[in-house]
Amino acid sequence: MNENVLEAHGIYKSYPTADGQIDVLLGIDLEIKRGEIVAVVGPSGVGKSTLLHILGILDRPTRGQLWMDSTDVFSLSDDQLAKLRNRTVGFVFQFHYLLPELSALENVMVPGMIAGRRAEELIKPARELLSRVGLAERESHRPNQLSAGEQQRVAVVRALINNPELVLADEPSGNLDFASSRTLHTLLWELSRSLEKTFVIATHNLELASKADRVLQLSNGKIVSQG
Ligand SMILES: Nc1ncnc2c1ncn2[C@@H]1O[C@H](COP(=O)(O)OP(=O)(O)O)[C@@H](O)[C@H]1O
Ligand SMILES: [Mg+2]
Repeated sequence: MNENVLEAHGIYKSYPTADGQIDVLLGIDLEIKRGEIVAVVGPSGVGKSTLLHILGILDRPTRGQLWMDSTDVFSLSDDQLAKLRNRTVGFVFQFHYLLPELSALENVMVPGMIAGRRAEELIKPARELLSRVGLAERESHRPNQLSAGEQQRVAVVRALINNPELVLADEPSGNLDFASSRTLHTLLWELSRSLEKTFVIATHNLELASKADRVLQLSNGKIVSQG
């Protein structure tokens, strides 16, 4: 098996706007190894979310290539992209987007149901994931019965239910207080190590970046350092 989960070559992204085009990414080249935790840092507006959306195949670049195993990802049709994304990528956003009328357990199961798996088959892995993030006792609680940090922990394990190769997290602790952020960062690290998952995390948080194996700094559309 290839040791890289993905390789990006010459990724450019521009957005057309009423006032003309905004050029956000100006030639990104990177490789992400299996099991690695990579932090993407840089000031607000630099293009971290844009890059994560392209690496997670939620959006297409203006030009450039993304390879996953031996697939030239953006040569695929939109339908094929959606299938590949469902199989290989999990997402965690700054806001948890849990469904308010569902329990924690049901929320974790949702992406599995969307992928066509049966509820009976999803309950056990969903419970196991919740217990890994300390929420075994909270499985029947709805999002509004959980703290912000607990909600985000549910969102993290929801991203793992389909056993994706790659988890992309966009400022996952951006909405949390100091203590909840710390707990979340430790859990992300433990999940990555124990499940051998690859994480790419956009963050402003220095503590989270310091837990990464590698930190990519974005500036003016390019990666300016990889420490
Ligand atoms: N859909 C879009 N249309 C137009 N401009 C966008 C769009 N998405 C992002 N941008 C612009 O691209 C730049 C980078 O945004 P973003 O990737 O969200 O940065 P970051 O996540 O680092 O804060 C910003 O100037 C933002 O306003
Ligand atoms: Mg962003």
